[in-house]
Amino acid sequence: MTKQLLLGQTLGFSGNPLIGDWADTVQFDSAGGVLIDGGRIAAVGNGQALRAAHPDATVTDYGDGLISAGFVDAHMHYPQTGMIASWGKQLIDWLNTYTFPEEARFGDAAYAADVAGRTLDLTLAHGTTTLTSFCTIHPQSVDAFFAAAAARNMAVVAGKTCMDRNAPDNLRDTAKSAYDDSKALLEKWHGVGRANYAITPRFSPTSTPDQMAALGALWSEHPDCLMQTHLSEQHPEIRWVKELYPDARDYLDTYEAFGLLGERGLYGHAIHLEKREIARLNEIGAAVVHCPTSNTFIGSGLFDMMGLAKAGLRIGLATDTGGGSSFSMLRTMAAAYEIGQLRGVALHPAQLMWLATEGSAQTLHMQGEIGHLNTGAVADITVLNLASTAAISQRFAKAHDIWDALFPTIMMGDDRAVADVWIAGQRVT
Ligand code: GUN
Ligand code: ZN
Repeated sequence: MTKQLLLGQTLGFSGNPLIGDWADTVQFDSAGGVLIDGGRIAAVGNGQALRAAHPDATVTDYGDGLISAGFVDAHMHYPQTGMIASWGKQLIDWLNTYTFPEEARFGDAAYAADVAGRTLDLTLAHGTTTLTSFCTIHPQSVDAFFAAAAARNMAVVAGKTCMDRNAPDNLRDTAKSAYDDSKALLEKWHGVGRANYAITPRFSPTSTPDQMAALGALWSEHPDCLMQTHLSEQHPEIRWVKELYPDARDYLDTYEAFGLLGERGLYGHAIHLEKREIARLNEIGAAVVHCPTSNTFIGSGLFDMMGLAKAGLRIGLATDTGGGSSFSMLRTMAAAYEIGQLRGVALHPAQLMWLATEGSAQTLHMQGEIGHLNTGAVADITVLNLASTAAISQRFAKAHDIWDALFPTIMMGDDRAVADVWIAGQRVT
């Protein structure tokens, strides 16, 4: 495989910019270069120095384009691609009215394959190189997603969504079939190529205690898998969880009681957390995933980014499509910024970019491998054009530093801002 040298402005991180001074964690070079060899990043440094040292490398010069690690979406639902932006409902009604009827279609393997491929192509076009997706209750929906990701050589996380109550008949499994199907799927896919399996109880209201216990047992038998679910998204949902699990201390306890709280657990939303839940998530080292476009679209609430970061929690960023209203991690960063502002915190562009790359990769326990513009990482790379539209371009022309140049693209950018995407050192065409 020939070496590739990408030239442009390079942005990476050496630490977490949500903790301490963000400036201490930034690795930025306005005349940088990224050398790719064998699908991995072999060096990051001054562009001309790398060019002189590696005259055999094929050069792609992006000028003042920004070379970043590819975006990592830490929570989404690929089966909801076909009903994104459905009007007028909050969480429980939204699930029943729009989500479940669409998810019922994924028993058809051909339909699942079509939507899986479409979703991955849409997200790649938006600069996202890793997706973490819920599937549906149908094993074929999981096969379709992992197969489509393998065809694109993308690192992904996914799992069969398990539900054995409070869902339509055609979308219910059982405690036993959820265990058996999830086990067969994880044995088939986990660690194959770039596929990672996540055991996936949808959320406490749609699983009986028996199903929760079966999935907790499966996780204890396969502790190297991730576990993904939802936590404390909306007040009516939280009240419902308390009715369904009267003995639980809080929402998190409904998972903990059944072996579904662990370091490799990913808890989507986590907006209305109680003190004990925050302390317990921190103690365990579990991760929460912020889904800001979803939280405003479904009307869920304002995630406490700085409070939870200061408490020590690991935090990822995600679209949560189709509850989220965009496939773009740029739009997602913008929404995270807006929610921060509504809580009195202005997240810095460095913090937003870190969340969309390194932060999300850490929640998936894939740090150093993806979301990382540094030697040794897989060369999953996104190049941003910081002057992609007339509106952004006129603002970019007035920028006084890289952050002032990048922020308009974060706030106003979309797939037009994505100049190029590389997956494991191969340019996506
Ligand atoms: N809670 C349970 N299922 C879902 C889902 O599909 N989307 C969102 N946003 N929240 C959920
Ligand atoms: Zn979700």
